[in-house]
Amino acid sequence: RSEREPGVEVSGGAAFAPGLEGVVATRTRLSMVDGAAGRLVIAGFPVEELAGRASFEETLYLLWNGVLPDAGRLEGLRGDLAARRALPEAAGEVLEAAVAGGAAPIDALRMAAGTLAPSGNDRDDALTSVAAFPTIVAACWRLSQGREPVEPDPGLSHAANYLYMLSGEVPGEERVRALETYLNTVSDHGMNASTFAARVISSTGSDLISAVVGAIGALKGPLHGGAPGPALDVVFEIGEPGRAEGVLRERLDRGERLMGFGHRVYKVRDPRADVLAGAAERLYASDADEELYRLALEVERTALRLLEEYKPGRNLDTNVEFYTALLLHGLGLPTGLFTPTFAVGRVAGWTAHCLEQRETGRLIRPQSEYVGPEARKWVPLEER
Ligand code: ACO
Repeated sequence: RSEREPGVEVSGGAAFAPGLEGVVATRTRLSMVDGAAGRLVIAGFPVEELAGRASFEETLYLLWNGVLPDAGRLEGLRGDLAARRALPEAAGEVLEAAVAGGAAPIDALRMAAGTLAPSGNDRDDALTSVAAFPTIVAACWRLSQGREPVEPDPGLSHAANYLYMLSGEVPGEERVRALETYLNTVSDHGMNASTFAARVISSTGSDLISAVVGAIGALKGPLHGGAPGPALDVVFEIGEPGRAEGVLRERLDRGERLMGFGHRVYKVRDPRADVLAGAAERLYASDADEELYRLALEVERTALRLLEEYKPGRNLDTNVEFYTALLLHGLGLPTGLFTPTFAVGRVAGWTAHCLEQRETGRLIRPQSEYVGPEARKWVPLEER
C-alpha cells in the first residue's frame, strides 16, 4: 500500500467520492431531480404536467430544442423519424445472429444499434438512433418468437408504431397514450448512470451513435435499468389481496428487499410512480386485467405499511419500477422487453444530453486516487 490513505486529498484539493455523490459534473437545462421534495422537472415542465399530455415526439422536440413544437415543426419531426425507422441490412443480420445465439433483448439492442452508421452530423445521428430503437427491439422480439418482423408504418406515431411492430396490430388510443406517458416519464432523469456514460463518450468528440451504444451498456445493469420486473413477479406470487401481508412479511423476515421500493435519491415517493400509477389505472380500466391492478394497489399499501414497521425512519417509498412493471405488462410486453423499452424512452434524454455536452466542448475527465505501491522493483520471469 502507498503511504497515502483513501480519502486523503489528491492534487488540486479534490475530494474522494467513489460514486461521484455530491459532485456536480455538468449544468443542464434538460431535467431536475429533487430527491427531498420528490419532484422531477423535464425541460421546465413538472413530470405530472408533461407526461400524460405530450406525444413522445413533442417531448423529444422539447428536449432537443428547449421549446414545444408548433404544428408544422411537429409534423416535420414526425416525418424525419418515420423516414429513419427502417434498419440497415447489417442490423437485421446482427439481430438474427443475436436471437439465434439466445442473446437477451437488451444485448440484441446494443449489438444492432452498433450497426447504425454515424453520419458526421449530431442531429442526424440523434434522429437515427431514436427512430431505430423501437424497430430493433420489436424485430428482436418477433424473431425470438419465430415470427417475421413487422415493417414500420410511416403513418403511425412513434409510440403507436412501436406497439404495431411488436404485435402486428394497430393499437387503440388508450394503449398509445399509456405507452407515451411511460416513454415521456422516463425520457430524462438528471445525471443518471447511462446519461452520464453518454455524456462522457460525447465529451471526447466521439459520435452520437457510439454514445448511445455505450449508454445501453450502462442502462443494462441491475442497479440502473436492469431489474426486469421483479416487482411484478412478487405481485404474481402473491396472487390475491389476502396473501399480500404473509408473502411480504416472509421476505422481510428473511432480510430480503421488497422490489419497487426505496431509491438512492428520492426519500419520498418517486413522482414518476404517481404518474405511472395513474396511467396504469386508466389502461387497466379500459384494456387490461383490472383485478391485477387492484391487487397491485393492495400489495403497495401493505408493502409501505410493513416497510415502516421493519425499517422505521429509512423513508422507503414506492419507486418508478413498481408501476412501470404493471403498465408495461398491461401493454402486453414480456419482462424481457422492460429494459429495452426503458431505452426506447431514455434515448430521448441521452441524445439531448449529447447535444448539450457538445455545446460545452469540455472533455469529462475526473481524477483517481492511486492507492497502490510506488517503487516496485522489476522481477525477471524466471525468478517469480
Ligand atoms: N426493502 C426493504 N428494505 C430496504 C429496501 C427495500 N426495497 N430498500 C432499502 N432498504 C433498507 C436497507 O436494507 C437499509 O436498511 P438498514 O438501515 O437496516 O441497513 C435501509 O433501508 C437503507 O438502504 P440503503 O441500501 O442505504 O439504500 P440505497 O439508497 O442504497 O438503496 C435501492 C436504494 C438500491 C433502490 C434500494 O432501495 C433497493 O434495493 N430497492 C429495491 C430494488 C429496487 O426497487 N430497485 C429499483 C430502484 S428504482 C431505479 O433505480 C430506476
